[in-house]
Amino acid sequence: GLAGALGVGGIAGAGLQLAAGDETPTAAPPPTTVPLGSVGSRIVPFRGARQAGIATPTQRQSHARIAAFDLLPGVDSTELKALLQRWTTAAAELTAGDGGDDMTADSGPASLTITVGFGPSLFGQAGIPAGARPEALAPLPAFAGETLDPGRSDGDLGVLVAADDAVVVYSAIRRLEQLAAGTARPRWQFAGFTRGRGVTTNEGATVRNLMGQLDGTRNPKPTDATFTRTVFVTGDGWMQDGSYLVVRRIRMLLDDWEKLDVAEQEKTLGRKKDSGAPLSGGVETTPANFGRLGADGRPMIAENSHIRLATSAFNRGAAILRRGYSFADPQPGGGVEAGLIFLAWQSDPRTGFIPIQQNLVRGHDRLSTFTRHETSALFAMPGGVSSGGYLGQALFE
Ligand code: HEM
Repeated sequence: GLAGALGVGGIAGAGLQLAAGDETPTAAPPPTTVPLGSVGSRIVPFRGARQAGIATPTQRQSHARIAAFDLLPGVDSTELKALLQRWTTAAAELTAGDGGDDMTADSGPASLTITVGFGPSLFGQAGIPAGARPEALAPLPAFAGETLDPGRSDGDLGVLVAADDAVVVYSAIRRLEQLAAGTARPRWQFAGFTRGRGVTTNEGATVRNLMGQLDGTRNPKPTDATFTRTVFVTGDGWMQDGSYLVVRRIRMLLDDWEKLDVAEQEKTLGRKKDSGAPLSGGVETTPANFGRLGADGRPMIAENSHIRLATSAFNRGAAILRRGYSFADPQPGGGVEAGLIFLAWQSDPRTGFIPIQQNLVRGHDRLSTFTRHETSALFAMPGGVSSGGYLGQALFE
């Protein structure tokens, strides 16, 4: 309980008395006494033209959970709207550092973002016509080689919660789960992590994944002229200023990967492991020269390397913003499943994830030998929430 969490000694020391035989203090607990640090006190604005958690904060937070919910049978449009309104109120408060619970009594918002959207299966339920589903929100096609677990894929509603404090993330997703009761039930949830804020002196530096690679080098940058067009929906309709999120739990077969020597690992990706530089030469930020041949007369960046097959120039310009999180989940029996909760944002999956993944399959991406796509989901994450508005409101207008 609260008394336990705050330390009964502290409460007694503050001069409060507990009634004999009563476990709860007779007065309200004292306010948080632990001063917040710079990481804990940081706020990412919840309201705006676009939802937070997609392109903001620029450097993704250290912890995230992504969850899907399914509507309970018979839920109508009034109940769904009411849920979205409850989530909006909670998200506005929590992201501002207000309305936390006993778990977060000593935490600040820590750059908390809460991003909400709709899966293809929502359409045709709760009074939402099947015809309101954008063509971009068609279920993803099957891809050769994937081994998907349907129970941990898809879902009517998707929620991404991220912050620089794992306690804040869990508390927020727990709150959303409680607020969904009676309207939607949890379907699946994944937890992930990346480097903590304040750990390095260069907050903008690329972070390594669990294969040890610098991952994110060639991500679109907010300063790119094409960034908005790549990530956000422009045009009319209820998805204006929204973005489509592809979620894939991709397991890394690390026992096999770690058997490769570093040169083979680099050939598999197409970049140096230490510096992240392309194998065609230069430093991390040097553009890859896919035409450059080595002394053996073969391309220095191999035909089946990950970056050659994924790059936008060889995919008719297809591009995505990758903001995934590592996972390393202990299993019963002592094992660990590790990999990447792959999160890709785009203005349309048909000019984003789908053609890139198809090209990776077609070209026998060598990195895929060491990965396994285990789950899949697609959500339409609508535009941002104006003051007085609620999440996804445009869908109902
Ligand atoms: C690039 C790792 C899956 C799309 C990269 C890079 C790494 C990497 C280390 C090079 C650095 C960078 O530019 O970020 C991984 C791992 C994966 C994975 C470990 C699975 C566990 C995927 C998937 C897609 C994808 C499924 C999309 C379908 C891309 C793209 C690039 C890239 C578009 C940039 C290519 C370029 O223009 O140079 N990936 N990746 N990756 N990856 Fe992946």
